[in-house]
Amino acid sequence: MKKPWAGRFTQKTSDAVESFTESISFDRKLWKHDIAGSIAHAKMLAKQRIITAKESAAIIAGLSRTADAIARGKFAFSPELEDIHMNIESALTARIGEPGKKLHTARSRNDQVALDLRLYLREQTRDIIQLLRELQKTFLTVAEGHQDTVMPGYTHLQRAQPVLLAHHLLAYVEMFRRDKERFHDCMQRMDSCPLGACALAGTSLPTDRAYTAKLLGFSRVSGNSIDAVSDRDFALEFLSGAAITMMHLSRLAEELILWSTEEFRFIEISDRFTTGSSFMPQKKNPDVAELLRGKTGRVYGNLVALLTLMKGLPLAYNRDMQEDKLPVFDSAETLRAALSVLQEMMKEVTFNRERLGETAAGGYSTATDIAEYLVRKGVPFRTAHETTGRIVLACISRNIPLSGLSLQELRTFSRAIERDIRAVLDPAASVRTRSSFGGTSPSEVKRQIRQYRKLLK
Ligand code: ARG
Repeated sequence: MKKPWAGRFTQKTSDAVESFTESISFDRKLWKHDIAGSIAHAKMLAKQRIITAKESAAIIAGLSRTADAIARGKFAFSPELEDIHMNIESALTARIGEPGKKLHTARSRNDQVALDLRLYLREQTRDIIQLLRELQKTFLTVAEGHQDTVMPGYTHLQRAQPVLLAHHLLAYVEMFRRDKERFHDCMQRMDSCPLGACALAGTSLPTDRAYTAKLLGFSRVSGNSIDAVSDRDFALEFLSGAAITMMHLSRLAEELILWSTEEFRFIEISDRFTTGSSFMPQKKNPDVAELLRGKTGRVYGNLVALLTLMKGLPLAYNRDMQEDKLPVFDSAETLRAALSVLQEMMKEVTFNRERLGETAAGGYSTATDIAEYLVRKGVPFRTAHETTGRIVLACISRNIPLSGLSLQELRTFSRAIERDIRAVLDPAASVRTRSSFGGTSPSEVKRQIRQYRKLLK
């Protein structure tokens, strides 16, 4: 297979080099984007009379037929042609002859690959935003069904204060909103067309970069040809958005894993989304959640890999940058798979309302309510805190819950305590009182649900 750059060489490339330098084994994923870029480029070349309308039409028809062949699995990718760009260009020339040799006028693989990666990521990012939206909707539906399910809220993984399960789930809906915002934001930087920057310095030919950009759906043309071919910030931003989103999924996964233990018994994940043990017959394992948590490590690694890849590179293009694609593909695919499977699984998680309520009632989790009760009776918060601490200590030493003390006993701690104290000892009542903006009261939770329902319509 003759290499497009063979002119300057007298020796054949070593076999070891062929296999070491090829990227076709992975960048073939970019074939659609590469062909879309080439079609736009051919149209621009004709409009600018750099090639004839006839040549342009032959190129476009040839590229379409090449696309068909690839889509049907009838295209023989060749490692000697290194990458997707040279594979497609060579196939085109083999198919249509002379006009094919004009396609690479006023462009280089450097701006071509920068374009392909942007087109690929634009598509992926749109999909991911849509998947995040679907996930938010699923969480919202589950939350709607649990507006009166009380559960223990934790800090330090110690029972802290009772909250509504809906409120806890809505915390994730909020995280996913920020994730979507990050991806929208990163699309802004992706939205700049590098094609026409050529190798690094632009071209002496009368190209129209704005026209190509418009054909490809970009709102801007990259302003500096050196930056255009050496910039991978948009990919880093994508990888960072993916890493943060996976971190959120991983925290949720960790909760699902904990909650499905015999020790917690807060949830049961359906059989369809759990797996068994090949050895211990009784086991039902939350492997999907574990893999969500586990795959997060790889997605973090991908971000660090590309940051490290870029940090020492002089301007402009360096072949090192070919290594940008594997982490980008891997993060995009892993994140999409994670979002889809999680969305499916969430629909098949059953919450054990009774157990959640009972656990919320234990662990002295309404102690803060006693302190706030005292504050409402005019006691300074510090004093109220200390008094309540002593009440808790007394209960612990007698191994009874807060509600186990009589009114008389409670009054030995503070004369401010009256009959109405009973109302704040119950977790459900405690939840009802926390109506500050964004708090866990049913009215505030309802407000959040309404707001998200509107946003996600
Ligand atoms: N396969 C290369 C990559 O992925 C394409 C650009 C190669 N350019 C070059 N001058 N060798 O980065």
